[in-house]
Amino acid sequence: MGKSKRLKIGIVGCGAIGSSMAKFIVKKLFSQAQLSALYDLDASKIKKLAKSVSKKRDLAAGSLGDLIAESQLVVEAASALSSREIARRALSMGRDVMIMSTGGVAGSLKELSLLAKKNNARVYIPSGAICGVDALKAAKLGRIKSVTLTTRKNPRSFKGVKYVEERRIKLAGIKKETVLFSGSAREAVRHFPQNINVAAVLSLAGIGQDRTLVRLIASPGTKRNIHEIKIESASGDISTRTQNLLHPDNPKTSFLAVLSAMAALRQILEPVRIGT
Ligand SMILES: NC(=O)c1ccc[n+]([C@@H]2O[C@H](COP(=O)([O-])OP(=O)(O)OC[C@H]3O[C@@H](n4cnc5c(N)ncnc54)[C@H](O)[C@@H]3O)[C@@H](O)[C@H]2O)c1
Repeated sequence: MGKSKRLKIGIVGCGAIGSSMAKFIVKKLFSQAQLSALYDLDASKIKKLAKSVSKKRDLAAGSLGDLIAESQLVVEAASALSSREIARRALSMGRDVMIMSTGGVAGSLKELSLLAKKNNARVYIPSGAICGVDALKAAKLGRIKSVTLTTRKNPRSFKGVKYVEERRIKLAGIKKETVLFSGSAREAVRHFPQNINVAAVLSLAGIGQDRTLVRLIASPGTKRNIHEIKIESASGDISTRTQNLLHPDNPKTSFLAVLSAMAALRQILEPVRIGT
């Protein structure tokens, strides 16, 4: 690929995921891709990251619109509250978009898909912090009876979640495994948008938000985010268990989610695609 053909990638959200991806693009993907712009609601975060990845060019964008104008692919690594709007704006301008805050688009994929089609653009949603999405996509071509996600996290991970506060659950007082939530992925995503991107990815890849079942367990013994998936299907039964270490820059984010986003970026640029 010639230098002028390098894919221009802009990143919205300069936190744990956005920063890791920016460095990855600059250090590892430079022959195929170019970091075109950075944007965050917090201007100091843009500045800090822009400085650390490029001494020559100022990558700081003054607004989301400016970032989109500068980019062919927009990576959303911001928040579940904003991911739908960021995706809509990027797609409307004919830009491809990669969404990390999947909880924020779980109910809008049809709308985004139509918008993408109309503007000849693409939406990418990485697997994130779970394994099993590859097999789920394949099994879906047969018949799937059930998909169940059981997520265990340290009680601390649920700090500040409205659903937990409203039920007056004292996280610090939890001494043994406690089920905080059991229900459909739709409800899980509604009540735990920051904690449960994996439920959103799973339901989008599989049998939808209403039939995908989710249990969220506060587990005081663990420092990891553990996701167990059970799939019953016409092609057989599948179980996976991912025990994630947390990202050093954001203890709410699994390290694997960051690597998954990097792998998804690399896959877009590669001529060979491995896995479903
Ligand atoms: N798909 C997955 O498996 C997965 C896993 C972990 C995290 N996530 C999600 O990815 C997102 C980023 O995670 P992170 O660990 O980097 O978070 P982070 O808190 O470290 O960084 C997020 C950054 O985005 C900025 N931001 C928030 N809203 C914004 C907006 N509207 N416009 C521009 N900037 C905005 C914040 O100021 C912050 O700097 C979160 O929504 C998180 O829930 C997804």
